[in-house]
Amino acid sequence: MKIKTSTFVVSNSDVAKCPVSHLPEYAFIGRSNVGKSSLINMLTGRKNLAKVSGKPGKTRLINHFLINDNWHLVDLPGYGYAKVSKQEKKTFQKYITAYFEKRQQLVNTFILVDCRHEPQPIDLEFLEWMGTNAIPFSIVFTKADKLKPEALDRNIAAYKAKLMETWVELPPYFITSSSNKTGRDEILNYIQSINDTLK
Ligand code: GTP
Ligand code: MG
Repeated sequence: MKIKTSTFVVSNSDVAKCPVSHLPEYAFIGRSNVGKSSLINMLTGRKNLAKVSGKPGKTRLINHFLINDNWHLVDLPGYGYAKVSKQEKKTFQKYITAYFEKRQQLVNTFILVDCRHEPQPIDLEFLEWMGTNAIPFSIVFTKADKLKPEALDRNIAAYKAKLMETWVELPPYFITSSSNKTGRDEILNYIQSINDTLK
């Protein structure tokens, strides 16, 4: 898929205020600082479409972007950011949960995990929650440029082995780097292939 246009639509914390639209929607979520905003910029070919920050917790709202006038891309806040208060965490959790439960247009969620780390309980719990609620997702391993190929292979294999302990089938997965555009075509073509089935 070629990205011809990508525009910011709206940010909010209420699923009821998300764009009223029948366009298919693809959400990106993961732990804070995993590289969601960077990946969105890499996919869209825009430097500053989504705000990137060295400080975790930058993305705090549900951010809608319109792509090629025919699908929505959604940047969600990172979960598991230690420095927010308990109350803030609860509020986050509430509107993110509401988003997943109510957003009918959502056709796939990309769950980002940092390829350098072992499977983290918070990610595994989130995958489990998505599975229990039958919300389709794929996994995106981020920051692949930070590992040597052998270490990358090893970590991906370990992640898959961990998932196979609880899942009967592995979800689709992508290996990406926002620094060198690894995985860009694969993710965009995947989105295109789903969009094609919805026509
Ligand atoms: P929050 O919105 O704060 O939850 O973070 P986020 O998941 O949107 O992460 P963001 O894209 O802001 O990136 C966090 C940090 O990781 C930034 O310093 C990025 O430059 C860096 N980063 C993101 N993706 C990559 C990547 O593929 N390779 C490398 N080397 N660094 C990356
Ligand atoms: Mg972000």
